[in-house]
Amino acid sequence: MTEEGNPAPAPRSMFDRMRERLVPDGLPEDDRGRIRMVVNSLVLHLHPAKVPERTLRWTYSWGLGGLSAVLMMLLGVTGIILLNNYTPAVPQAYLDILELRSNVWFGELIRNLHHWSANLLIIVAVLHLVRVFLTGAYRPPRELNWLIGAGMLVLVLAANFTGYLLPWDQLAFWAITVGTSILSYVPLAGEWLSRLALGGPEVGGNTLLNFYSMHISFIPLLIFALMSYHFWRVRKDGGLTMPRGLDEAEPPISERVTTIPHLVRKELVFALAWIAALLVFAMLVPAPLEDIANPDVSPNPAKAPWYFLGLQELLLHFHPLVAGIILPGLAALAVFMLPFFDTNPASVGVYFRSRRGRSLTFLSAGLALVLTPLWVLLDEYLLNWSAWLPGWPALLSNGLIPLAVLLLPLFLLDEWLVRSFKADTEERVLFIAGFVFTAFLILTAVGIFFRGPGMGLYWPWELPVAGH
Ligand code: HEM
Repeated sequence: MTEEGNPAPAPRSMFDRMRERLVPDGLPEDDRGRIRMVVNSLVLHLHPAKVPERTLRWTYSWGLGGLSAVLMMLLGVTGIILLNNYTPAVPQAYLDILELRSNVWFGELIRNLHHWSANLLIIVAVLHLVRVFLTGAYRPPRELNWLIGAGMLVLVLAANFTGYLLPWDQLAFWAITVGTSILSYVPLAGEWLSRLALGGPEVGGNTLLNFYSMHISFIPLLIFALMSYHFWRVRKDGGLTMPRGLDEAEPPISERVTTIPHLVRKELVFALAWIAALLVFAMLVPAPLEDIANPDVSPNPAKAPWYFLGLQELLLHFHPLVAGIILPGLAALAVFMLPFFDTNPASVGVYFRSRRGRSLTFLSAGLALVLTPLWVLLDEYLLNWSAWLPGWPALLSNGLIPLAVLLLPLFLLDEWLVRSFKADTEERVLFIAGFVFTAFLILTAVGIFFRGPGMGLYWPWELPVAGH
Protein backbone atom coordinates (compact mmCIF):
# COMPACT_ATOMS: atom_id res chain seq x y z
CA MET A 1 0.00 0.00 0.00
CA THR A 2 1.14 3.59 -0.64
CA GLU A 3 0.80 6.33 2.00
CA GLU A 4 -2.54 7.41 0.41
CA GLY A 5 -3.83 3.83 0.84
CA ASN A 6 -3.65 2.93 -2.87
CA PRO A 7 -2.19 -0.47 -3.90
CA ALA A 8 1.60 -0.32 -4.58
CA PRO A 9 2.48 -0.37 -8.31
CA ALA A 10 3.71 -3.76 -9.54
CA PRO A 11 7.51 -3.88 -9.92
CA ARG A 12 8.60 -3.00 -13.50
CA SER A 13 10.17 -5.90 -15.33
CA MET A 14 13.03 -5.68 -17.80
CA PHE A 15 10.46 -5.97 -20.61
CA ASP A 16 8.47 -3.05 -19.23
CA ARG A 17 11.53 -0.85 -19.15
CA MET A 18 12.48 -1.90 -22.71
CA ARG A 19 8.97 -1.25 -23.94
CA GLU A 20 8.87 2.22 -22.42
CA ARG A 21 12.14 3.05 -24.09
CA LEU A 22 11.34 1.55 -27.49
CA VAL A 23 7.63 2.23 -27.88
CA PRO A 24 6.61 5.06 -25.56
CA ASP A 25 2.94 4.78 -26.61
CA GLY A 26 2.75 1.33 -25.01
CA LEU A 27 1.66 -2.11 -26.16
CA PRO A 28 -1.03 -4.52 -24.92
CA GLU A 29 -0.02 -6.27 -21.70
CA ASP A 30 0.08 -9.80 -23.06
CA ASP A 31 2.52 -12.36 -24.38
CA ARG A 32 2.19 -11.18 -27.95
CA GLY A 33 3.25 -7.77 -26.77
CA ARG A 34 6.34 -9.29 -25.21
CA ILE A 35 7.28 -11.25 -28.31
CA ARG A 36 6.78 -8.16 -30.38
CA MET A 37 9.02 -6.31 -27.97
CA VAL A 38 11.86 -8.77 -28.48
CA VAL A 39 11.46 -8.57 -32.26
CA ASN A 40 11.32 -4.77 -32.11
CA SER A 41 14.47 -4.68 -30.08
CA LEU A 42 16.19 -6.90 -32.65
CA VAL A 43 15.03 -4.58 -35.43
CA LEU A 44 16.33 -1.58 -33.52
CA HIS A 45 19.74 -3.18 -33.33
CA LEU A 46 19.84 -2.98 -37.11
CA HIS A 47 18.06 0.33 -37.64
CA PRO A 48 17.91 3.63 -35.77
CA ALA A 49 14.57 4.34 -34.01
CA LYS A 50 13.69 7.05 -36.53
CA VAL A 51 14.63 7.61 -40.16
CA PRO A 52 14.11 10.55 -42.54
CA GLU A 53 10.95 9.91 -44.50
CA ARG A 54 12.65 10.71 -47.80
CA THR A 55 15.12 7.86 -47.51
CA LEU A 56 12.20 5.41 -47.57
CA ARG A 57 11.44 6.19 -51.22
CA TRP A 58 11.76 3.11 -53.44
CA THR A 59 12.88 5.22 -56.35
CA TYR A 60 16.07 6.10 -54.49
CA SER A 61 17.58 2.84 -53.18
CA TRP A 62 15.23 0.47 -55.05
CA GLY A 63 15.63 -1.80 -52.00
CA LEU A 64 18.65 -3.38 -53.70
CA GLY A 65 20.86 -3.65 -50.61
CA GLY A 66 17.94 -5.16 -48.67
CA LEU A 67 17.22 -7.60 -51.49
CA SER A 68 20.88 -8.67 -51.53
CA ALA A 69 20.55 -9.44 -47.82
CA VAL A 70 17.29 -11.38 -48.35
CA LEU A 71 18.97 -13.44 -51.06
CA MET A 72 21.96 -14.14 -48.81
CA MET A 73 19.60 -15.42 -46.08
CA LEU A 74 17.74 -17.59 -48.58
CA LEU A 75 21.06 -18.96 -49.86
CA GLY A 76 22.16 -19.73 -46.30
CA VAL A 77 18.95 -21.64 -45.47
CA THR A 78 18.70 -23.57 -48.75
CA GLY A 79 22.45 -24.24 -48.68
CA ILE A 80 22.26 -25.85 -45.23
CA ILE A 81 19.42 -28.09 -46.41
CA LEU A 82 21.36 -29.08 -49.54
CA LEU A 83 24.37 -30.00 -47.41
CA ASN A 84 22.39 -32.90 -45.95
CA ASN A 85 22.27 -34.65 -49.27
CA TYR A 86 25.62 -33.99 -50.85
CA THR A 87 29.00 -35.75 -50.87
CA PRO A 88 31.95 -33.83 -52.32
CA ALA A 89 33.47 -36.79 -54.15
CA VAL A 90 33.64 -37.99 -57.75
CA PRO A 91 31.23 -39.39 -58.99
CA GLN A 92 29.03 -39.40 -55.86
CA ALA A 93 28.46 -35.63 -56.08
CA TYR A 94 26.61 -36.01 -59.38
CA LEU A 95 24.66 -39.07 -58.17
CA ASP A 96 23.61 -37.12 -55.07
CA ILE A 97 22.19 -34.34 -57.22
CA LEU A 98 20.22 -36.91 -59.26
CA GLU A 99 18.95 -38.43 -56.02
CA LEU A 100 18.08 -35.00 -54.68
CA ARG A 101 16.03 -34.24 -57.77
CA SER A 102 14.02 -37.45 -57.77
CA ASN A 103 13.95 -38.99 -54.30
CA VAL A 104 14.24 -36.19 -51.75
CA TRP A 105 11.11 -34.32 -50.69
CA PHE A 106 11.24 -30.83 -52.19
CA GLY A 107 14.88 -31.54 -53.06
CA GLU A 108 14.59 -30.20 -56.57
CA LEU A 109 12.73 -27.10 -55.38
CA ILE A 110 15.41 -26.33 -52.78
CA ARG A 111 18.17 -26.79 -55.38
CA ASN A 112 16.36 -24.54 -57.87
CA LEU A 113 15.82 -21.88 -55.21
CA HIS A 114 19.51 -21.98 -54.26
CA HIS A 115 20.61 -21.82 -57.90
CA TRP A 116 18.36 -18.94 -58.98
CA SER A 117 18.92 -16.91 -55.80
CA ALA A 118 22.68 -17.19 -56.30
CA ASN A 119 22.49 -15.95 -59.87
CA LEU A 120 20.06 -13.18 -58.98
CA LEU A 121 22.34 -12.07 -56.14
CA ILE A 122 25.13 -11.24 -58.60
CA ILE A 123 22.80 -9.06 -60.67
CA VAL A 124 21.24 -7.38 -57.62
CA ALA A 125 24.58 -6.71 -55.89
CA VAL A 126 25.96 -5.15 -59.10
CA LEU A 127 22.82 -3.01 -59.48
CA HIS A 128 23.19 -1.94 -55.82
CA LEU A 129 26.79 -0.91 -56.56
CA VAL A 130 25.58 1.05 -59.61
CA ARG A 131 22.93 2.81 -57.50
CA VAL A 132 25.47 3.73 -54.83
CA PHE A 133 27.84 4.92 -57.57
CA LEU A 134 25.25 7.03 -59.41
CA THR A 135 24.16 8.78 -56.20
CA GLY A 136 27.77 9.45 -55.11
CA ALA A 137 27.04 7.56 -51.86
CA TYR A 138 30.63 6.21 -51.71
CA ARG A 139 32.05 9.60 -50.73
CA PRO A 140 33.22 10.45 -47.21
CA PRO A 141 32.18 9.34 -44.64
CA ARG A 142 31.03 6.20 -46.51
CA GLU A 143 34.29 5.27 -48.23
CA LEU A 144 34.95 2.35 -45.88
CA ASN A 145 31.46 0.94 -46.49
CA TRP A 146 32.04 1.20 -50.24
CA LEU A 147 35.24 -0.85 -49.82
CA ILE A 148 33.46 -3.43 -47.65
CA GLY A 149 30.71 -3.64 -50.30
CA ALA A 150 33.23 -4.11 -53.10
CA GLY A 151 34.93 -6.85 -51.06
CA MET A 152 31.55 -8.55 -50.58
CA LEU A 153 30.91 -8.46 -54.31
CA VAL A 154 34.21 -10.26 -54.93
CA LEU A 155 33.22 -12.85 -52.31
CA VAL A 156 29.75 -13.27 -53.85
CA LEU A 157 31.42 -14.01 -57.19
CA ALA A 158 33.78 -16.45 -55.48
CA ALA A 159 30.83 -18.16 -53.77
CA ASN A 160 29.07 -18.53 -57.12
CA PHE A 161 32.17 -19.79 -58.87
CA THR A 162 33.01 -22.42 -56.24
CA GLY A 163 29.37 -23.53 -56.13
CA TYR A 164 29.28 -23.89 -59.91
CA LEU A 165 31.50 -26.99 -59.79
CA LEU A 166 29.56 -28.89 -57.12
CA PRO A 167 26.95 -30.67 -59.33
CA TRP A 168 29.91 -32.22 -61.20
CA ASP A 169 28.16 -32.26 -64.56
CA GLN A 170 29.63 -31.35 -67.95
CA LEU A 171 28.55 -27.71 -67.60
CA ALA A 172 30.26 -27.40 -64.21
CA PHE A 173 33.45 -29.23 -65.16
CA TRP A 174 34.17 -27.28 -68.33
CA ALA A 175 33.07 -23.88 -67.05
CA ILE A 176 35.46 -24.24 -64.12
CA THR A 177 38.22 -25.58 -66.39
CA VAL A 178 37.88 -22.46 -68.59
CA GLY A 179 37.42 -20.11 -65.61
CA THR A 180 40.45 -21.32 -63.67
CA SER A 181 42.69 -21.31 -66.75
CA ILE A 182 42.79 -17.49 -66.38
CA LEU A 183 44.64 -17.94 -63.07
CA SER A 184 47.66 -19.43 -64.80
CA TYR A 185 48.31 -16.09 -66.56
CA VAL A 186 49.11 -14.31 -63.28
CA PRO A 187 52.78 -13.31 -63.68
CA LEU A 188 55.27 -15.43 -61.72
CA ALA A 189 52.75 -17.05 -59.36
CA GLY A 190 50.28 -18.22 -62.06
CA GLU A 191 51.15 -21.94 -62.13
CA TRP A 192 51.34 -22.11 -58.36
CA LEU A 193 48.00 -20.31 -57.91
CA SER A 194 46.29 -22.52 -60.43
CA ARG A 195 47.61 -25.69 -58.74
CA LEU A 196 46.57 -24.35 -55.35
CA ALA A 197 42.98 -23.71 -56.50
CA LEU A 198 42.68 -26.97 -58.43
CA GLY A 199 44.53 -29.14 -55.92
CA GLY A 200 46.48 -30.60 -58.84
CA PRO A 201 47.32 -29.93 -62.49
CA GLU A 202 43.67 -30.02 -63.68
CA VAL A 203 40.08 -30.03 -62.43
CA GLY A 204 39.45 -33.29 -60.53
CA GLY A 205 38.36 -34.78 -57.21
CA ASN A 206 40.70 -32.52 -55.23
CA THR A 207 39.28 -29.44 -56.92
CA LEU A 208 35.79 -30.56 -55.97
CA LEU A 209 36.85 -30.95 -52.33
CA ASN A 210 38.68 -27.59 -52.33
CA PHE A 211 35.76 -25.73 -53.87
CA TYR A 212 33.27 -27.45 -51.58
CA SER A 213 35.10 -26.52 -48.40
CA MET A 214 35.55 -22.89 -49.56
CA HIS A 215 31.91 -22.76 -50.65
CA ILE A 216 30.42 -23.96 -47.37
CA SER A 217 32.74 -22.42 -44.79
CA PHE A 218 35.26 -19.66 -45.41
CA ILE A 219 33.39 -17.68 -48.10
CA PRO A 220 29.88 -17.62 -46.56
CA LEU A 221 31.23 -16.96 -43.07
CA LEU A 222 33.24 -14.02 -44.35
CA ILE A 223 30.28 -12.67 -46.33
CA PHE A 224 27.96 -12.84 -43.30
CA ALA A 225 30.58 -11.19 -41.08
CA LEU A 226 31.17 -8.39 -43.60
CA MET A 227 27.43 -8.02 -44.16
CA SER A 228 26.83 -7.41 -40.44
CA TYR A 229 29.60 -4.82 -40.46
CA HIS A 230 28.19 -3.26 -43.65
CA PHE A 231 24.78 -2.78 -41.98
CA TRP A 232 26.32 -1.39 -38.84
CA ARG A 233 28.35 1.06 -40.89
CA VAL A 234 25.24 2.31 -42.73
CA ARG A 235 23.96 3.33 -39.27
CA LYS A 236 27.31 4.69 -38.11
CA ASP A 237 27.69 6.80 -41.26
CA GLY A 238 24.43 8.60 -40.49
CA GLY A 239 21.95 6.30 -42.28
CA LEU A 240 21.24 6.30 -45.96
CA THR A 241 22.37 9.30 -47.98
CA MET A 242 19.56 11.86 -48.37
CA PRO A 243 17.86 11.62 -51.78
CA ARG A 244 17.73 14.92 -53.63
CA GLY A 245 16.34 15.99 -57.02
CA LEU A 246 18.56 17.42 -59.79
CA ASP A 247 17.09 20.89 -59.23
CA GLU A 248 17.29 20.95 -55.44
CA ALA A 249 20.30 23.06 -54.53
CA GLU A 250 20.42 22.11 -50.84
CA PRO A 251 19.89 18.75 -49.10
CA PRO A 252 16.24 18.94 -48.00
CA ILE A 253 15.14 18.72 -44.39
CA SER A 254 13.00 15.61 -44.24
CA GLU A 255 10.44 14.74 -41.59
CA ARG A 256 11.62 11.79 -39.48
CA VAL A 257 9.31 8.83 -39.02
CA THR A 258 9.62 5.87 -36.65
CA THR A 259 11.38 2.83 -38.10
CA ILE A 260 8.62 0.66 -36.63
CA PRO A 261 6.29 0.44 -38.45
CA HIS A 262 7.16 2.70 -41.40
CA LEU A 263 10.45 1.17 -42.59
CA VAL A 264 9.99 -2.34 -41.23
CA ARG A 265 6.58 -2.78 -42.85
CA LYS A 266 8.03 -1.87 -46.24
CA GLU A 267 11.01 -4.18 -45.77
CA LEU A 268 8.78 -7.08 -44.76
CA VAL A 269 6.37 -6.71 -47.67
CA PHE A 270 9.30 -6.33 -50.08
CA ALA A 271 11.14 -9.39 -48.74
CA LEU A 272 8.01 -11.58 -48.72
CA ALA A 273 7.05 -10.51 -52.24
CA TRP A 274 10.52 -11.39 -53.55
CA ILE A 275 10.63 -14.73 -51.72
CA ALA A 276 7.17 -15.60 -53.13
CA ALA A 277 8.24 -14.62 -56.66
CA LEU A 278 11.43 -16.68 -56.37
CA LEU A 279 9.50 -19.68 -55.05
CA VAL A 280 7.16 -19.57 -58.04
CA PHE A 281 10.12 -19.15 -60.42
CA ALA A 282 11.98 -22.05 -58.81
CA MET A 283 8.87 -24.26 -59.14
CA LEU A 284 8.62 -23.51 -62.84
CA VAL A 285 12.25 -23.28 -64.01
CA PRO A 286 14.66 -26.10 -63.08
CA ALA A 287 18.34 -25.38 -62.44
CA PRO A 288 20.41 -26.85 -65.29
CA LEU A 289 22.00 -30.27 -64.97
CA GLU A 290 23.80 -31.92 -67.86
CA ASP A 291 25.44 -35.36 -68.16
CA ILE A 292 28.07 -36.37 -65.61
CA ALA A 293 31.43 -34.58 -66.06
CA ASN A 294 33.63 -36.22 -68.67
CA PRO A 295 37.18 -34.82 -68.86
CA ASP A 296 37.64 -36.51 -72.27
CA VAL A 297 34.69 -34.88 -74.04
CA SER A 298 34.84 -31.11 -74.16
CA PRO A 299 31.66 -29.30 -75.21
CA ASN A 300 31.98 -26.89 -78.12
CA PRO A 301 32.02 -24.06 -77.20
CA ALA A 302 33.36 -24.42 -73.64
CA LYS A 303 32.26 -21.29 -71.81
CA ALA A 304 33.07 -19.91 -68.36
CA PRO A 305 30.11 -19.13 -66.01
CA TRP A 306 27.99 -16.32 -67.51
CA TYR A 307 29.31 -13.61 -65.14
CA PHE A 308 32.86 -14.23 -66.41
CA LEU A 309 31.91 -14.25 -70.09
CA GLY A 310 32.81 -10.55 -70.46
CA LEU A 311 36.32 -11.54 -69.35
CA GLN A 312 36.37 -14.57 -71.63
CA GLU A 313 35.32 -12.31 -74.52
CA LEU A 314 38.23 -9.97 -73.73
CA LEU A 315 40.56 -12.99 -73.81
CA LEU A 316 39.48 -13.67 -77.38
CA HIS A 317 40.73 -10.23 -78.41
CA PHE A 318 43.80 -9.53 -76.27
CA HIS A 319 46.89 -11.26 -74.95
CA PRO A 320 45.86 -13.13 -71.74
CA LEU A 321 48.04 -10.95 -69.53
CA VAL A 322 46.20 -7.83 -70.74
CA ALA A 323 42.69 -9.35 -70.82
CA GLY A 324 42.89 -11.59 -67.76
CA ILE A 325 45.12 -9.62 -65.41
CA ILE A 326 45.92 -6.01 -66.40
CA LEU A 327 42.42 -4.84 -67.41
CA PRO A 328 40.49 -6.51 -64.54
CA GLY A 329 43.24 -5.37 -62.15
CA LEU A 330 42.92 -1.75 -63.30
CA ALA A 331 39.11 -1.91 -63.07
CA ALA A 332 39.29 -3.33 -59.52
CA LEU A 333 41.85 -0.67 -58.54
CA ALA A 334 39.59 2.09 -59.91
CA VAL A 335 36.60 0.75 -57.91
CA PHE A 336 38.65 0.59 -54.71
CA MET A 337 40.25 4.02 -55.21
CA LEU A 338 37.07 5.83 -56.29
CA PRO A 339 36.04 7.24 -52.87
CA PHE A 340 39.49 8.75 -52.44
CA PHE A 341 39.67 10.87 -55.60
CA ASP A 342 36.00 11.72 -56.15
CA THR A 343 35.07 13.31 -52.83
CA ASN A 344 32.77 16.27 -53.52
CA PRO A 345 30.10 16.12 -50.78
CA ALA A 346 27.84 18.68 -52.53
CA SER A 347 26.16 16.31 -54.96
CA VAL A 348 25.77 13.23 -52.72
CA GLY A 349 22.24 11.83 -53.04
CA VAL A 350 21.63 13.32 -56.49
CA TYR A 351 21.34 10.74 -59.29
CA PHE A 352 23.99 11.64 -61.93
CA ARG A 353 25.18 14.67 -59.84
CA SER A 354 23.84 17.31 -62.29
CA ARG A 355 22.00 17.68 -65.59
CA ARG A 356 25.33 17.78 -67.40
CA GLY A 357 26.49 14.69 -65.51
CA ARG A 358 23.36 12.90 -66.67
CA SER A 359 23.90 13.90 -70.31
CA LEU A 360 27.55 12.81 -70.16
CA THR A 361 26.64 9.41 -68.68
CA PHE A 362 24.06 8.76 -71.41
CA LEU A 363 26.50 9.99 -74.05
CA SER A 364 29.28 7.64 -72.90
CA ALA A 365 26.90 4.68 -72.46
CA GLY A 366 25.51 5.35 -75.96
CA LEU A 367 29.02 5.51 -77.43
CA ALA A 368 29.95 2.21 -75.78
CA LEU A 369 26.71 0.65 -77.03
CA VAL A 370 27.68 1.41 -80.62
CA LEU A 371 31.47 1.13 -80.50
CA THR A 372 31.84 -2.14 -78.55
CA PRO A 373 29.96 -4.42 -80.99
CA LEU A 374 31.67 -2.59 -83.86
CA TRP A 375 35.08 -3.31 -82.39
CA VAL A 376 34.16 -6.99 -81.69
CA LEU A 377 33.21 -7.36 -85.38
CA LEU A 378 36.31 -5.52 -86.62
CA ASP A 379 38.62 -7.61 -84.46
CA GLU A 380 36.89 -10.81 -85.54
CA TYR A 381 36.96 -10.21 -89.28
CA LEU A 382 39.48 -7.46 -90.15
CA LEU A 383 42.12 -6.66 -87.57
CA ASN A 384 45.09 -9.00 -87.37
CA TRP A 385 47.67 -7.35 -85.15
CA SER A 386 50.03 -10.34 -84.92
CA ALA A 387 50.25 -10.59 -88.74
CA TRP A 388 50.74 -6.84 -89.11
CA LEU A 389 53.53 -6.77 -86.52
CA PRO A 390 55.45 -9.96 -87.27
CA GLY A 391 58.30 -10.74 -84.91
CA TRP A 392 56.93 -8.49 -82.16
CA PRO A 393 56.34 -10.14 -78.76
CA ALA A 394 52.66 -11.21 -78.53
CA LEU A 395 52.21 -9.13 -75.37
CA LEU A 396 52.88 -6.03 -77.47
CA SER A 397 51.38 -6.91 -80.86
CA ASN A 398 48.27 -8.59 -79.49
CA GLY A 399 48.02 -6.82 -76.15
CA LEU A 400 49.41 -3.43 -75.28
CA ILE A 401 49.35 -1.92 -78.80
CA PRO A 402 45.67 -2.70 -79.60
CA LEU A 403 44.82 -1.64 -76.04
CA ALA A 404 46.56 1.72 -76.53
CA VAL A 405 44.79 2.17 -79.88
CA LEU A 406 41.46 1.61 -78.13
CA LEU A 407 42.13 3.72 -75.05
CA LEU A 408 43.60 6.68 -76.91
CA PRO A 409 40.25 7.97 -78.27
CA LEU A 410 38.74 7.63 -74.80
CA PHE A 411 41.54 9.74 -73.30
CA LEU A 412 41.20 12.29 -76.11
CA LEU A 413 37.46 12.52 -75.49
CA ASP A 414 38.11 13.01 -71.78
CA GLU A 415 40.67 15.72 -72.55
CA TRP A 416 38.18 17.42 -74.87
CA LEU A 417 35.54 17.41 -72.10
CA VAL A 418 37.97 19.06 -69.71
CA ARG A 419 39.17 21.70 -72.19
CA SER A 420 35.93 22.54 -73.97
CA PHE A 421 33.40 22.10 -71.16
CA LYS A 422 35.55 22.50 -68.05
CA ALA A 423 34.26 19.10 -66.90
CA ASP A 424 35.12 18.47 -63.24
CA THR A 425 36.33 15.25 -61.60
CA GLU A 426 32.86 13.89 -60.87
CA GLU A 427 31.66 14.46 -64.43
CA ARG A 428 34.75 12.78 -65.86
CA VAL A 429 34.27 9.83 -63.48
CA LEU A 430 30.67 9.46 -64.70
CA PHE A 431 31.75 9.68 -68.33
CA ILE A 432 34.52 7.07 -68.09
CA ALA A 433 32.62 4.70 -65.78
CA GLY A 434 29.53 4.94 -68.04
CA PHE A 435 31.64 3.91 -71.01
CA VAL A 436 33.58 1.10 -69.32
CA PHE A 437 30.57 -0.40 -67.53
CA THR A 438 28.39 -0.42 -70.67
CA ALA A 439 31.24 -1.86 -72.77
CA PHE A 440 31.68 -4.68 -70.24
CA LEU A 441 27.93 -5.42 -70.26
CA ILE A 442 27.97 -5.63 -74.06
CA LEU A 443 31.00 -7.96 -74.01
CA THR A 444 29.19 -10.18 -71.48
CA ALA A 445 26.07 -10.22 -73.69
CA VAL A 446 28.20 -11.11 -76.74
CA GLY A 447 29.76 -13.98 -74.77
CA ILE A 448 26.38 -15.28 -73.58
CA PHE A 449 24.25 -14.87 -76.69
CA PHE A 450 26.53 -14.59 -79.74
CA ARG A 451 29.42 -17.03 -79.23
CA GLY A 452 28.98 -20.55 -80.60
CA PRO A 453 31.12 -23.48 -81.73
CA GLY A 454 34.83 -22.66 -81.86
CA MET A 455 33.88 -19.41 -80.03
CA GLY A 456 32.86 -17.99 -83.42
CA LEU A 457 30.19 -15.31 -83.76
CA TYR A 458 26.67 -16.60 -84.41
CA TRP A 459 23.13 -15.29 -84.17
CA PRO A 460 21.52 -16.46 -80.90
CA TRP A 461 18.99 -18.64 -82.76
CA GLU A 462 21.82 -20.51 -84.52
CA LEU A 463 23.46 -21.55 -81.22
CA PRO A 464 23.13 -25.18 -80.07
CA VAL A 465 20.86 -25.53 -77.02
CA ALA A 466 22.89 -26.51 -73.89
CA GLY A 467 22.86 -30.23 -73.18
CA HIS A 468 22.02 -31.25 -76.79
C1 HEM B 1 26.05 -8.98 -50.47
C2 HEM B 1 26.13 -7.76 -50.90
C3 HEM B 1 25.54 -6.51 -50.23
C4 HEM B 1 24.56 -6.37 -49.28
C5 HEM B 1 23.77 -7.47 -48.59
C6 HEM B 1 24.40 -4.95 -49.03
C7 HEM B 1 23.47 -4.39 -48.18
C8 HEM B 1 23.22 -3.02 -48.06
C9 HEM B 1 22.08 -2.41 -47.42
C10 HEM B 1 20.91 -3.17 -46.81
C11 HEM B 1 22.23 -1.06 -47.49
C12 HEM B 1 21.23 0.02 -47.02
C13 HEM B 1 20.03 0.11 -48.00
C14 HEM B 1 20.35 0.31 -49.46
O1 HEM B 1 21.18 1.16 -49.83
O2 HEM B 1 19.77 -0.42 -50.29
C15 HEM B 1 23.49 -0.79 -48.13
C16 HEM B 1 24.04 0.47 -48.33
C17 HEM B 1 25.28 0.69 -48.89
N1 HEM B 1 26.02 -0.23 -49.58
FE1 HEM B 1 25.67 -2.22 -49.70
N2 HEM B 1 25.30 -4.25 -49.78
C18 HEM B 1 26.00 -5.16 -50.56
C19 HEM B 1 26.97 -4.88 -51.50
C20 HEM B 1 27.51 -3.61 -51.71
C21 HEM B 1 28.44 -3.26 -52.74
C22 HEM B 1 28.91 -4.23 -53.84
C23 HEM B 1 28.76 -1.94 -52.55
C24 HEM B 1 29.72 -1.07 -53.36
C25 HEM B 1 30.90 -1.42 -53.76
C26 HEM B 1 28.02 -1.44 -51.42
C27 HEM B 1 28.12 -0.17 -50.86
C28 HEM B 1 27.17 0.39 -50.04
C29 HEM B 1 27.17 1.77 -49.57
C30 HEM B 1 28.27 2.82 -49.81
C31 HEM B 1 25.98 1.95 -48.86
C32 HEM B 1 25.47 3.28 -48.22
C33 HEM B 1 24.56 3.90 -49.30
C34 HEM B 1 23.88 5.19 -48.91
O3 HEM B 1 24.08 5.65 -47.79
O4 HEM B 1 23.14 5.73 -49.76
N3 HEM B 1 27.25 -2.47 -50.94
N4 HEM B 1 24.07 -2.00 -48.48
